[in-house]
Amino acid sequence: MAIIVTGASGLLGSALGQALRDEGREVVRLVRRKPQGPDEAFWQPSEQVIDLSVLDGAEGVVHLAGASIGDRRWSEAYKRELVASRVEGTRVLVDGLREVATPPPVLLSASGVDFYGDTGDREIDEDQGKGTGFLPDLCERWEAEAVRAGEAGIRTVRLRTGLVLSRKGGALGRMLPIFKMGLGAPLGSGKQYWSWISVDDWVGAALHVLRNPDVTGPVNFTSPSPVTNTEFTRTLARAVRRSAMPIPVPAFALSLGLGEFAREGLLPGHRVLPRKLADSGYRFAHSSLDEALRAVL
Ligand SMILES: NC(=O)c1ccc[n+]([C@@H]2O[C@H](COP(=O)([O-])OP(=O)(O)OC[C@H]3O[C@@H](n4cnc5c(N)ncnc54)[C@H](OP(=O)(O)O)[C@@H]3O)[C@@H](O)[C@H]2O)c1
Repeated sequence: MAIIVTGASGLLGSALGQALRDEGREVVRLVRRKPQGPDEAFWQPSEQVIDLSVLDGAEGVVHLAGASIGDRRWSEAYKRELVASRVEGTRVLVDGLREVATPPPVLLSASGVDFYGDTGDREIDEDQGKGTGFLPDLCERWEAEAVRAGEAGIRTVRLRTGLVLSRKGGALGRMLPIFKMGLGAPLGSGKQYWSWISVDDWVGAALHVLRNPDVTGPVNFTSPSPVTNTEFTRTLARAVRRSAMPIPVPAFALSLGLGEFAREGLLPGHRVLPRKLADSGYRFAHSSLDEALRAVL
C-alpha cells in the first residue's frame, strides 16, 4: 500500500515525500517523464495518460501538481497553462481514481487561499465563499474537479494553502535575496494580510489530515496568526538582520513590473484562520511569524 504523490519534485511534494518515507510509508511519485524505479509511475496529464495500476489499492493520493504561479510573468498563454495544469491535471487523476476497482480511501488535493480573493482585514475561515478574479476562478475550477472524487466516496480534502515559508524556494525563496541586500519593502499599502504557514507545519498538517478520517472538504493550510504585509516585511528584515526600506513599493510599480500576478497574488489581502485544523486537534509547531522564520532560516 503506497501513498501516491503528484508534483512530487516540487517544494511541497519533496518535503512531504521525505516525511512520509521517514515514517516508513511507501511513496510512489507520479512523474511526467520515464519512471526510473519502482517508486515512480508515469502520468502525462496534458495527454490524459495515467498509470492506473498504482492508483488501484493505494493507501492515499496527494495531488500537488501545477505550473508555478509566481515564477514568471503571466502571459495569456501562461495563464492557460496555469489553468490547464491544474484543472485538466486534476480531472485526469480523478477520472483514474473513479475507474480503478479499489480506489484509495483518501485524496488530498492542492488549492490556495487565493480562492477567497481580497477579503480585507476581516478574519475568515473555510465558510467564506469564493472571491472574484483570475485566481479565485482558477481555484474554484481546480477544486470542482477534486470534489468529483468526493462524490465517488473518496474522502477528499482540498488544501487551501497560504504562503509557505521555506528557505528552499516558493515566495520566501524569491524574497530572501532582496531582503538580504536590505532592499525589502512593504508592497502597495502594506495593509493587506498575508496568511503564511511554515513548511514544517504544512507537512505536519498534511500528515495529520491523512491520518484523521474526520477531516474532509476545504481545509485552510495557514498558521493561526496571519500578519499584514508591512508586519511581514519588518519581521523578515529583522530575521535576516537587515532593515527594511521605509518607503513602500507603490501598487502601480508592482503592476508594471510583475503584471497581473502582482494584482492577483501580492496586493489582495486575506486574513485566513485554520479553523478546521484547529478543531481537529492539529498543534502548530510555529504559530508566530518570528518563530517560524527563525526555524525556517
Ligand atoms: N508553495 C506555496 O506557497 C503554495 C501556496 C498555495 C498553493 N500552493 C499549491 O500547492 C501545490 C504545490 O506547491 P509547490 O510549492 O510544491 O509547487 P512547485 O514547487 O511549483 O511544484 C509543483 C510541481 O508540479 C509539477 N508541474 C509543474 N508544471 C506542471 C505542469 N505544467 N503540468 C503538470 N504538473 C506540473 C512539477 O512536478 P513534477 O515535475 O514532479 O511533475 C512541479 O514540481 C501547487 O499546486 C501550488 O499552486 C502552493
